[in-house]
Amino acid sequence: MSEKPIEVVDNGGIVRLTITRPKALNALNSAVLEALEATLLELEARDDLRAVLITGAGEKAFVAGADIAEMRDKTPEQARAFAQKALKTFKRLETLPVPVVALVNGFCLGGGCELALASDWAVASDNAVFGQPEVLLGVIPGFGGTQRLPRRVGPAMALDLVTTGRKIDAAEALRIGLVNQVMPQANLEAYAEELTKQLGGNGPEAVRNAKQAVHDGQDQDLDSALALETSLFALGFAGAEQKEGMNAFLEKRKPNF
Ligand code: HXC
Repeated sequence: MSEKPIEVVDNGGIVRLTITRPKALNALNSAVLEALEATLLELEARDDLRAVLITGAGEKAFVAGADIAEMRDKTPEQARAFAQKALKTFKRLETLPVPVVALVNGFCLGGGCELALASDWAVASDNAVFGQPEVLLGVIPGFGGTQRLPRRVGPAMALDLVTTGRKIDAAEALRIGLVNQVMPQANLEAYAEELTKQLGGNGPEAVRNAKQAVHDGQDQDLDSALALETSLFALGFAGAEQKEGMNAFLEKRKPNF
């Protein structure tokens, strides 16, 4: 591969990751997954990280899926290892302690849709196309789609998408809650950059605790999840952000987080 599979641009802790395999519509092969894993490991170790934007190179695709050419001849054990590699990397993205925005600029299929689902926010161009077309290839989603999709859009719609393999447009993706926002491609870059910057400007401790409460709470019964919320809410009062945020309100000024 001539290009680096993941391009990293760092603007003072606001980090943009671009999956750079445009000739294959940014399909996720082992090299891309390994590069993404290594990049995320580096980001995790930083204490100045504020927000991450992830996208695909070019205007045609975010990510058109896992790499079909690489998968075709895999044995079940090799397929399992491939899926586990991606699941580990996507989990790393999902649990970054900062907001992660997926900028979806075109095809967002299979593993690409699963990557968007592992992000906190998804903003899409109005020509974006979404789907979990794995059944059309004789398999099922393996990068988290059967689990994260129903958690985001509900089981009925998730079953529709994973059993038909049908593609949906950006308007439908917005309607079912798969993405947060849709806009013309010409406006998307600027919007997503501004959103990421804005999210990165919020208090990092509060954002980290909010993310943890939402993510971890989903896998617990309501009472346990509410107890988790209470713990994280109380924890906020141990840090400097709560003092600054509330003082700023009472002093009629902007907080400095
Ligand atoms: C490998 C891919 C690819 C993929 C596209 N390409 N998607 N290569 N894996 N997922 C390659 C094509 O082979 C082609 O290479 C080049 O990208 C351009 O694609 P075209 O098909 O020529 O473009 P177009 O006709 O515009 O069609 C775009 C498309 C189509 C509708 C997105 O490419 C498509 O259907 N792609 C596959 C989508 C899919 O089924 N995704 C799910 C994969 S399974 P050449 O060399 O010919 O130019 C999956 C499972 C996850 O994600 C879990 C696994 C454990």
